[in-house]
Amino acid sequence: MKDLIKKIEVNINHKDFNFFSKLQKEDLTFLLEYNDKILWQKIFDFAYLTKKHFVNNISYYRGLIEFSNLCIKNCNYCGIRKDNKSVERFSMEEEEILSLAKWAYDNEYGSITLQSGERIDDTFIDFVEDILFNIKKSYPKLGITLCLGEQSFETYERWKKMGADRYLLRIETSNEKLYKKLHPQDGNHDFQKRIECLKSLKKLDYQVGTGVMIGLPYQKACDLADDLIFFRDFDIDMLGMGPYIFHADTPLGTYVNKNNLNDETTKKMRFNLSLKMIAIARLFLKDVNIAATTALQSLDPLGREKGLKCGANILMPIITSTEHRGKYQLYENKPCIDDDKSDCKNCLTRRVLSIGDSVGWGENGNSRHFYNRLNAKNQ
Ligand code: 5AD
Ligand code: SF4
Repeated sequence: MKDLIKKIEVNINHKDFNFFSKLQKEDLTFLLEYNDKILWQKIFDFAYLTKKHFVNNISYYRGLIEFSNLCIKNCNYCGIRKDNKSVERFSMEEEEILSLAKWAYDNEYGSITLQSGERIDDTFIDFVEDILFNIKKSYPKLGITLCLGEQSFETYERWKKMGADRYLLRIETSNEKLYKKLHPQDGNHDFQKRIECLKSLKKLDYQVGTGVMIGLPYQKACDLADDLIFFRDFDIDMLGMGPYIFHADTPLGTYVNKNNLNDETTKKMRFNLSLKMIAIARLFLKDVNIAATTALQSLDPLGREKGLKCGANILMPIITSTEHRGKYQLYENKPCIDDDKSDCKNCLTRRVLSIGDSVGWGENGNSRHFYNRLNAKNQ
């Protein structure tokens, strides 16, 4: 593998943007496990250059509206899982959501993301449909990403018709066995169903985003290498990946506690591995949109800037009303809980400018990969 390190150095020096896309699973695994700081700094810098070359060094904002924490699922890692009785549940009224969308538009955010726990009842589906209709009626140019979990093809279709542009559904891990460990086997959490959902979204011409949690218990470097290959083979347009973060009121949190898997060293490992995954994803996939997730900041105060510096180009400033933020904690130590939307806007913008990127004010920042994919499909 010494040979691989040498090749990486030579190709980075030659600014060969195609070199990393040719790496095989064994190479990716080796690289993820390789911890030479000097080499990694070179890779991070090259990933930043690759971002500049393919998608420009502009950060696009997706104002994040976490509009309800009601959820029918019980993912073993998540703080708002159905069985966590210590969470105070909430659902915003339509009016509140519309006023947050208006704020995003007035503040020149190119897009918003509507996120909530998972629900599949008719009331919920109609509610989302109505919101989409009303937002698009007032602000036709405001991009809308949905992050509302697994739904039927018909529901995805209805929401698309009402104006949803993109959909984010993380595969969480592309290793089916690991997926089974992370989710209860209650008939409600099925890996194949998730794959089918991603396929439906693609068929409906959504810009499709997926992603994984990084540094999960039981997860190996070769699983992450497979995740990268999964993103490529699935031809995804957007990526939202971040470190796994402990939450005490969850089955996985209990396991982590018991096995002392939440010490500072492990947390640092999860953070570093997340940056490595972002950098390799940028080098491997080139023109996709990649988010620097809030979870990065919960493990490192400069987490999101570091994400942008190694290839990410999307930020999701939280615009959820401050009163609800504490109730939407998928993981502990979620940053910005006491802030309001203007704080988040100013703080994030300072962070973007501090690393030499600019903000794509008023632009929707659609995935370039999506256009390239559609063009290829229509030729
Ligand atoms: N740590 C990190 N990410 C989490 N998510 C849920 N719980 C956690 C956690 N404990 C992520 C999942 C999900 C997204 C909405 O939040 O990847 O898809
Ligand atoms: Fe519900 Fe999503 Fe949390 Fe799973 S990760 S319990 S679907 S909110």
